[in-house]
Amino acid sequence: MSNGLIAPHGGELIVNLVGEAERAALLERAAALPQITVGSRQLADLEMLANGAYSPLRGFMTREDYLSVVNTMHLSNSLPWSIPITLAVTAEQAAGVPEGSEVALVNAEGVLQAVLTVQEKFGYDKALEARQVYRTEDEAHPGVKVVYQQGDVLLGGPVQIVALQPQIFEQYRYTPAQSRALFAERGWKRVVAFQTRNPVHRAHEYIQKCALETVDGLYLHPLVGDTKGDDIPADVRMRCYEVLLENYYPQDRVILGVLPAAMRYAGPREAIFHALMRKNYGCSHFIVGRDHAGVGNYYGTYDAQHIFAEFDADKLGITPMFFDHTFFCKVCDAMASKKTCPHNGEHHVMLSGTKVRQMLQAGEVPPREFSRPEVASVLIEAMRQPVTKG
Ligand code: ADX
Repeated sequence: MSNGLIAPHGGELIVNLVGEAERAALLERAAALPQITVGSRQLADLEMLANGAYSPLRGFMTREDYLSVVNTMHLSNSLPWSIPITLAVTAEQAAGVPEGSEVALVNAEGVLQAVLTVQEKFGYDKALEARQVYRTEDEAHPGVKVVYQQGDVLLGGPVQIVALQPQIFEQYRYTPAQSRALFAERGWKRVVAFQTRNPVHRAHEYIQKCALETVDGLYLHPLVGDTKGDDIPADVRMRCYEVLLENYYPQDRVILGVLPAAMRYAGPREAIFHALMRKNYGCSHFIVGRDHAGVGNYYGTYDAQHIFAEFDADKLGITPMFFDHTFFCKVCDAMASKKTCPHNGEHHVMLSGTKVRQMLQAGEVPPREFSRPEVASVLIEAMRQPVTKG
């Protein structure tokens, strides 16, 4: 890219949304095609394929790419890619769509989203995918559960996408081309991305600002696709970000955008996936802290950092910025980590999204060492609402 931003993964943004010119013909053709109804995970995948965030993918993975990703964390063309992007259907559904044919992918309301050319349909080993991608076969793991519950046949092939998803958070829903244009407009070249699925706490703020000390700008990029049921809803998290940015961040050094992808909770492998998507959005750096994209006790605290050593840094392109577990030290009266604070654990307030959630559920106000008061107010207000609604 001539504006000095990092190149997209694979060299160019692959946008699989059809242009206005082809749209009418595609809609007409699709009306006669067999239909498959897709759920929210696939709708999110379609949006990421539509807007270019999944570059270089052109659709759902065919067998060679799927197995290569599952077994080697690379596409068959040797580009890093750590999470399978698949369309699972039942054997009955698969029977109605021969290889080489087209199928209309519709949402729950029957509205056409995309046309998939079924290049290949194939069975797959769910336990293998679970072990390789999630490092566990335990069905209690939310990512593994999705794999075990979905259909037994994968349909692979390119997609032509007709519709982007309903525009919730519209003012923050930048496509990779749009975020790149925003960065270029501000003259940013070194841009650090921050992924999150939790309400923002002081540790998040601290590591964002440490990173921001060394780069041109920060792309705050909360994930707003499917999360597990006990995570805080995305609209509440967005309000937290709005008050935080308003009160504690220099406006010209941060852009808030949303990532419409679904969470997989795949820990280390998801950290790579999160980084690659942000590369497509134009970010040169990516923050990875403690237990990134983790759930329960499936991953070691720094596994999501260690996995980066398994990749060729040039092929990955985006540079990870690693942070130790950070906490508030009462003696330092500041955020710190073991790298910067000499005091022992009794003086430390340890922070995590899970802890904030637990405190809110118990009706406790997160203390200032945990949350900025403006953020705590948003969270408390949000906790009250379901009660008043009855
Ligand atoms: S995640 O699933 O999106 O990773 P979360 O929103 O909690 O969950 O984390 C966002 C980012 O902040 C991740 O990179 C995570 O590792 C990091 N992070 C969260 N809490 C801390 C902490 N106390 N110290 C260091 N890094 C943290």
